[in-house]
Amino acid sequence: MEFSIKASAPEKLRTPCLVLLHLVGQPASAQFTAVDTASGGLLEKLVKRDLDDKTGSLLSIPALPGVPAERVLVVSLGAAEALQPQLLRSSLAAIGKWIAGNKVTSASICCGALPAALTDAATGLRLAAQSLVDATYRFDAIRGKVENKPRSPVELNFLFDAKPAAELRTALEQGVAIAAGQALTRDLGNLPANYCTPATLADTAKSLAHEYKLKLKVYDRQGIEELGMGSFLAVAQGTQEEPRFITLEYKGGKAKAAPIVLVGKGVTFDSGGISLKPGEAMDEMKFDMCGAASVLGIFRTVAKLGLPINLVGLIPATENLPSGTAVKPGDVVTSLSGQTIEILNTDAEGRLILCDALTYAERYKPACVIDIATLTGACIIALGHHTSGLLANDDALAAELLTAGRAAGDRAWQLPLFDEYQEQLKSNFADLANIGGRPAGSITAACFLSRFAKAYRWAHLDIAGTAWKSGADKGATGRPVPLLAEFLIRQAGQ
Ligand code: BES
Ligand code: MN
Ligand code: ZN
Repeated sequence: MEFSIKASAPEKLRTPCLVLLHLVGQPASAQFTAVDTASGGLLEKLVKRDLDDKTGSLLSIPALPGVPAERVLVVSLGAAEALQPQLLRSSLAAIGKWIAGNKVTSASICCGALPAALTDAATGLRLAAQSLVDATYRFDAIRGKVENKPRSPVELNFLFDAKPAAELRTALEQGVAIAAGQALTRDLGNLPANYCTPATLADTAKSLAHEYKLKLKVYDRQGIEELGMGSFLAVAQGTQEEPRFITLEYKGGKAKAAPIVLVGKGVTFDSGGISLKPGEAMDEMKFDMCGAASVLGIFRTVAKLGLPINLVGLIPATENLPSGTAVKPGDVVTSLSGQTIEILNTDAEGRLILCDALTYAERYKPACVIDIATLTGACIIALGHHTSGLLANDDALAAELLTAGRAAGDRAWQLPLFDEYQEQLKSNFADLANIGGRPAGSITAACFLSRFAKAYRWAHLDIAGTAWKSGADKGATGRPVPLLAEFLIRQAGQ
């Protein structure tokens, strides 16, 4: 796909599809007025009569008189005062879906109304570009025949009244890079477990390392043993598929600047192990590596943009399967930290692989560590599918992540990590148990992780409800790449 940013008069533009944004109860943008005037006032009339005020409503007008565009597509952003980032996201996504669904190969989007639409023009544009491009995403990689394949748009032009300021150009570039990162995250998430194994995640990291000159080290089963990651290995011992521990380093900042470390849960299939899951929707456990996929996605974004930060990605990757060699309920294992863990439920495996990666993270003397994991079904019960769970041992870090999520229309909500919950992890036989009972399942999972994250500022994103969609739209969402990208862009001071 190609992107361009220009100043151009939309009423004179020859394009298959001219997109106008409409804010209800706000004076029309100069671009809207110019097209309306060229149409002799017809545009305004049609919009008044046929465009619903509801955010994301679309009106397609083929061959609007007086305008060379083949069609004009107007999207309602809803009421100006009610506009929030995630509404802007869904409106732009509606355009993207329409463009992709109608086989439009090139579209020009009038962005004049955007700076007015949100307080911070650059953030708004970044969000708009990202959501629009992301909405044109398709996944055909493993179809045998792709007949009547709807073509993705090949060209998107972003139009401004005047020559866009450097800041806006950067914001658009960032939006496109975020969507590119998200596409990688979605591709990996969507691949089934027989295509996306721990080795596949490592190979993807390898291609990123080649493309962007990143430092990469990959450990296999023996390497993980030598590192002493007994907890991670306990999960991996039930599968024939070789586990991997992937470390990826991006150095865009000052040589001595402390890195931000991202840790992604890479369970390429979670059957539950001996504590086997029920059969219903078990296929969706191929998405249990979406934390790992977001780490790889965000590396693509950050490296594409060359952000002036230092970033480390750590990915423990394995399947969780039952077998004659699988770890059993009641088994006690020794983690890299030296703490022993009683595995009371083999389906609480995410925390078992993450804890060793969190201990490993200490060696980087990180500025902060953020882990991303499809960790608990309880998080879906608490927050549903709209909001990621956030827990942290540092409220300032939590606040920055919440703010970034809000700005990016990719929101998270903080749950408490009060000491009282730690008691639920008591074990009669080891330093701690890997489950804390039914009450507050997402919190006790984070409590478990917190025992391994004492050496630095740490936050945990539980994306069990947000990383993929079920039902007719089943597929990976690429979340929380937009949240993380916004956070890192802000960290980079850009
Ligand atoms: N990967 C799952 C969490 C999950 C379940 C995410 C459903 C999305 C949808 C995780 O490994 C898991 O199985 N967690 C258990 C923990 C329990 C055994 C304490 C859960 O949530 O049931
Ligand atoms: Mn599990
Ligand atoms: Zn899992």
